[in-house]
Amino acid sequence: MKKILVIGSAGQIGSELVIMLRNIYGNEQVIATDKCSDAGKKLTENGIFEILDITDRMALEDICNKFQITHIINLAAILSAIGEKKPMLAWDVNMNGILTILEVARIIGIEQVMIPSSIAVFGPETPVDNTPQKTILRPTTMYGVTKVTGELLGNYYVKRYGLDVRGLRYPGIISNGTLPGGGTTDYAVAIFYDAVKYKKYTCFVKENTRLPMMYMPDCLKATIDLFEADFGDLKHHSDFNVGAMSFTAGELAASIKKYIPDFEVEYKPDFRQEIADTWPNSVDDSAARKEWGWKPSYDLDAMTQDMLKAIGEKHKKGII
Ligand code: NAD
Ligand code: SER
Repeated sequence: MKKILVIGSAGQIGSELVIMLRNIYGNEQVIATDKCSDAGKKLTENGIFEILDITDRMALEDICNKFQITHIINLAAILSAIGEKKPMLAWDVNMNGILTILEVARIIGIEQVMIPSSIAVFGPETPVDNTPQKTILRPTTMYGVTKVTGELLGNYYVKRYGLDVRGLRYPGIISNGTLPGGGTTDYAVAIFYDAVKYKKYTCFVKENTRLPMMYMPDCLKATIDLFEADFGDLKHHSDFNVGAMSFTAGELAASIKKYIPDFEVEYKPDFRQEIADTWPNSVDDSAARKEWGWKPSYDLDAMTQDMLKAIGEKHKKGII
């Protein structure tokens, strides 16, 4: 039976992935951890939550041994916008964290390691439309540099040691649970909160900025589908493109306006525009579709309706 360790579980994706993993595999089979002690009731009520700094190799090894961990999912990272403000921290958490996990996994015989990557592996020289799986990876952010290196390390551990390492290049993830942790695509979440609360939003990228995006239910599905895929079916390992939708900031605002007609958006690009300009418009995810059956469910309008409903309910209850 799988015993799953989730590292960095208090963030935007982890806080929802842990709940889904516990629903599938059982509460006691999923050990949630994070450096941050404020993980919220949802993670601590139904199962074990432990403090773990991913750069602390001894602590990681102790937790793996203590709970007889078979599978590790690493979500601990410093995202793109914070990474540009604190590049050394991004290197330390993203790079030393991944290397620590891979080494511990190899030495103690973990069955599978999953480490998400990002569209941030691409850079200004990469083709922007339907970006291929195999293409130019020359990012210009520290976050992107760590993500490319993480993919290479993952693939190296597969080839060199036969360790089962898997990863997806998530697009910008949009959700209504935990707020995003300091990335460039955060505007696509913040816009919904401000639309509901104030009927106006100041967007930090230009109206015509187009990026690949994905709604959280599809992100969870993609993660679990790849986690469950048969290793023998995989030709790629740490670097699957996964797509769902692609829209500009203006198209997102227009979708919200269909439901909140007096919603207004002002565009005031900041340093994150420069990061967004180096990322693709859309990605070719045919390898993920072929090798493990990837198929997204949400398009822009379906996501907008769901987001506005969930955030509207939070607003009515006074939670936001
Ligand atoms: P997040 O910033 O919301 O959460 C990251 C978590 O890692 C936080 O809870 C933080 O406390 C924890 N953390 C930071 N330093 C740590 C350390 N030293 N030890 C242990 N925990 C530490 O990030 P997220 O959005 O949930 O992203 C999860 C993964 O998905 C990351 O690898 C990220 O690069 C990737 N990803 C996310 C997106 C997105 O839009 N959310 C897009 C592409 C890729
Ligand atoms: N959403 C992430 C970010 O903006 C992409 O990896 O940093």
